[in-house]
Amino acid sequence: MDLAKLKAGLKKDFISSSSSEDLQKLKVKYFGKKGKITNLSKQLGKLDIKQRPKAGKKINELKLLFEVLNKSASQKIEKKELETAISKEQIDVSLPVDSDYIGGLHPITRTIEKICSYFSAKGYLIEDGPEIESEYYNFDALNIPQDHPARDMHDTFYLDSGKLLRTHTSPVQIHAIEKHKVPLKILCPGKVYRSDSDPTHTPMFHQVEGLLIDESVNFGNLKKELIDFLNYFFDKNLQVRFRPSYFPFTEPSAEVDIMDKKGWLEIMGCGMVHPNVLEMSGIDSKKYSGFAFGLGIERMAKLDFSINDMRVLFENDLKAISGK
Ligand code: FA5
Ligand code: MG
Repeated sequence: MDLAKLKAGLKKDFISSSSSEDLQKLKVKYFGKKGKITNLSKQLGKLDIKQRPKAGKKINELKLLFEVLNKSASQKIEKKELETAISKEQIDVSLPVDSDYIGGLHPITRTIEKICSYFSAKGYLIEDGPEIESEYYNFDALNIPQDHPARDMHDTFYLDSGKLLRTHTSPVQIHAIEKHKVPLKILCPGKVYRSDSDPTHTPMFHQVEGLLIDESVNFGNLKKELIDFLNYFFDKNLQVRFRPSYFPFTEPSAEVDIMDKKGWLEIMGCGMVHPNVLEMSGIDSKKYSGFAFGLGIERMAKLDFSINDMRVLFENDLKAISGK
């Protein structure tokens, strides 16, 4: 066996290998079952006992050489392969995203955002209010005294602390009056709670409260504001009806219905802020007047997204709520 020739061949092999596959092949060529170095090791046993140590040393040198060459070659090749992989796998951030995989906002959230962006463009301040309220804010300050029958209509969840879960967003009217000076223009979206559960009522739902107080505000202003909004929201001229109604905190009061496929659907309550409410919060009701409205978000979302059953909004079936 010509070791010098084998050594030279080994060096040549490494010089001409350019991929990790090539290196793998070299491993087989030299150390495989019939590999060149394997064969040498096998022959060792057949040698004269005196020649063995010398030959064994030569084979070990050869193995060492292989290892050294292999190490430096694989480092070079790995670096080169990584560089080509990186250059090929460049991410093109300008490519369009597959919208099926990016998720989306819940119809309730989208409805709230649509309403808020409309009114905030009209100068309304977006407010936030607590979901845990005192009886004062939820009822008393809204002209609903302790013994008033309207309290029974609200199916209130009372907490052990004596507080309650707000039954409507109207208490935010009082917080806003206390926080800001009049004139004011606020809008407050949020969750409300009523102990009520059947196919058209859920114990938690969402409302958006609007309140505008200024000098000489009248019912005509309220009607125009709401009709303009509804036409914008549904992107068409709707049939809208203001039906006389009763709320202790507004006078006169109305409920707003819009024509749906199945007939009139109530979507909100509204009215001129009751002078008692203004006076209780320290506002001169001779100088100032205002209007307020409380809109049901689920009903708006239901119409906008053509959802038949309101419960779908809370069942998290992605197909049903990702519509439009
Ligand atoms: C109120 O809650 C009054 N605070 C609204 C108001 C505000 C009147 C400001 C005057 C001035 P009502 O209980 O009718 O009113 O609810 C208002 C709207 O919330 C309804 O028109 C309806 O769209 C929605 N709503 C009421 N109850 C439910 C329910 N259980 N599930 C879903 N939406 C509901
Ligand atoms: Mg109502």
